[in-house]
Amino acid sequence: MTLRIARDVLLLVAKRPSRLVKWRLQTNLFRGRAPMSDRIESHLKEDRRFPPSSEFSAHARIRSHAEYTSRHAASLEDPATFWREETQDLVFREPWKTFSEWELPHAKFFVGAKLNVSESCLDRHLATSARNRAAIVFEGEPGDTRTLTYFELHREVVRFSAALLDLGVLPGDRVAIYMGMIPEAAIAMLACARIGATHSVVFGGFSADALRDRINDLGATVLVTQDGAWRRGNVVPLKQMADKALLETPTIRHVVVYERIGTKLAPFSLKEGRDHQWDMLLARTPSAESLAKAKGPEAFDSEHPLFVLYTSGSTGKPKGVLHTSAGYLVSAHVTSKYVFDLKDSDLYWCTADVGWVTGHSYIVYGPLSNGASCLMYEGAPNFPDAGRFWNIIEKHGVTILYTAPTAIRAFIRWGDEWPEKHDLSSLRLLGSVGEPINPEAWTWYHRVVGKGKCPIVDTWWQTETGSIMLTTLPGACFSKPGSTGLPMFGVDIEVVKDRGEACAPNEGGKLVIKRPWPSMARTLYGDDARFKESYWSQMPGVYFTGDGARRDEDGYFWVTGRIDDVLNVAGHRIGTAEIESALVSHPSVAEAAAVGRPDDLKGQALVVFVTLKTGQPADKAMKAKLAEHIDREIGKFARPDEVRFADALPKTRSGKIMRRLLKEIASGSLETKGDTSTLEDLSVLAKLRANDDEA
Ligand code: WTA
Repeated sequence: MTLRIARDVLLLVAKRPSRLVKWRLQTNLFRGRAPMSDRIESHLKEDRRFPPSSEFSAHARIRSHAEYTSRHAASLEDPATFWREETQDLVFREPWKTFSEWELPHAKFFVGAKLNVSESCLDRHLATSARNRAAIVFEGEPGDTRTLTYFELHREVVRFSAALLDLGVLPGDRVAIYMGMIPEAAIAMLACARIGATHSVVFGGFSADALRDRINDLGATVLVTQDGAWRRGNVVPLKQMADKALLETPTIRHVVVYERIGTKLAPFSLKEGRDHQWDMLLARTPSAESLAKAKGPEAFDSEHPLFVLYTSGSTGKPKGVLHTSAGYLVSAHVTSKYVFDLKDSDLYWCTADVGWVTGHSYIVYGPLSNGASCLMYEGAPNFPDAGRFWNIIEKHGVTILYTAPTAIRAFIRWGDEWPEKHDLSSLRLLGSVGEPINPEAWTWYHRVVGKGKCPIVDTWWQTETGSIMLTTLPGACFSKPGSTGLPMFGVDIEVVKDRGEACAPNEGGKLVIKRPWPSMARTLYGDDARFKESYWSQMPGVYFTGDGARRDEDGYFWVTGRIDDVLNVAGHRIGTAEIESALVSHPSVAEAAAVGRPDDLKGQALVVFVTLKTGQPADKAMKAKLAEHIDREIGKFARPDEVRFADALPKTRSGKIMRRLLKEIASGSLETKGDTSTLEDLSVLAKLRANDDEA
């Protein structure tokens, strides 16, 4: 107690009184980001309910809360029967013998089945009315459009599969895909699936170094890329960036380059014997054997690896999340069908990038396995103006929009006049993903975009879960702004305390999944020990999500965000350790700590505290250098929002950086002296905290 008073007195001296009063009002303790309990309190106040209209429910696949509850119960009580019914429309060459087998942390699903994932997404539609339906409606950033029917998509995937086979790609080989949002990215993914190669899409915003590291971790033998991608009117020179990576990727034997932009604006070179132009490669007549295999593809085991997708974790090294075939496909299929209530007449638009898991499950595998028509947009939401999304919806008649809260908050900032200028009456359903949606953004989305008539599905899930875990089925359940809803079929999920006991209603805790589910990640590529350690070691027998949450008295989940060392900046997962290890690899940096602070637009902003080596100037030029260094090491999207220099980082006596303190400073609830461009002396605060900890 005495120590706390001493701390307050010291702070009084150190701060302008007005700031202190503000700080005292905002936080009763040394807390920066509103503590979870406060955030929960603000959520607790939000209890409006938005039921679907009776018209929506009348035509929905699942029409009432009772129907949802009974299907959910069936999925847990008798999963084999449930999934047998739900997988009738997928193509299994051999049916499964056992629904699942597990010995944690490992699990298998649909054991004994044989399938080719691409057949469910393509071939099965050729015998139905979907054959001539648009599979992908592409809108390029410059405004060019292209439609691929299911017939055409199948044809292109077969051609590309044959080309990959002719390049010697075998089942189990890893193929890296470094592309923007063009149909060829989906074609490449599906072709890999078709020949049993494991694809790993590397988001086009990643740097050459990040691409290199992923290729090397995978030992990929083929890279598929494009000359360049349009982004806000500029060309991102993907092939040139890939060339830099390729200087240090000894396993790559072939590179396929799709020409999206043309040599005038995106010149690139081809390395003899290694690099192939997509069009020229496909123009060659494939060998009869490859063509036959591409047309009538092999069936693979249900647990055959489908893809690896890298995501951030709590160490400096990204995690290669591995998904396999049947369980992943089934979950992506079933969730797409029910959550988006897909109908033949829909034009569904998921605005995520194929480089993230949302693009995998809800642009490619989920919607295509349902025969849905999917819009794919290449560019930025504010190019050429802030009305681009609304223009696309009007132009193509989009009926379902699935986007991220960060985008919604940006739209709010840009003004209602943009959506209001366009006819959005084709929309019937809205979705949100990637980060918590604040009730204000939810309400705006509902009112301005959905005109009060479209249900909103807020979907919580992760790269590791493979498919949507929590949401409200749009025709069946009411939604509450800010709540991510109820468990999806087969999902046994709970909020628990540290030792695993269930929390009471509205009590905040850790979000865990209590039994394996079909689309769960099977391991981390090449690092099974880390798989176990990251997800299955916090509490015995359950999967730890890394998120904090509460469940209200209606059973609705409210996810409050990450409680580990992972940040969610504008819906992108960024590991603090990844940023730190990138920073300390700069020759001027002695030590670095990355933390998040709440941000009205991005959810969280990235703030880094840096201690420079002796003699290095702590100035603006250094900040710029460090930002560029992050661009190079990871990618522009991971650029810190703020770089702050410090004499030394606050540490406990045992040498651990006091992140909590840095978070508080970053969020402005604890002020250090001077402006942030000068060196901060964090030692006083560090000492105070150390004393406090000891007290
Ligand atoms: C966060 C994206 C609140 C969460 C699909 C999770 C969300 C992480 C939501 C996974 C949501 C995702 N409400 N938080 N609806 N959706 N998250 O792997 O912290 O890129 O753990 O997968 O995003 O991010 P990832």
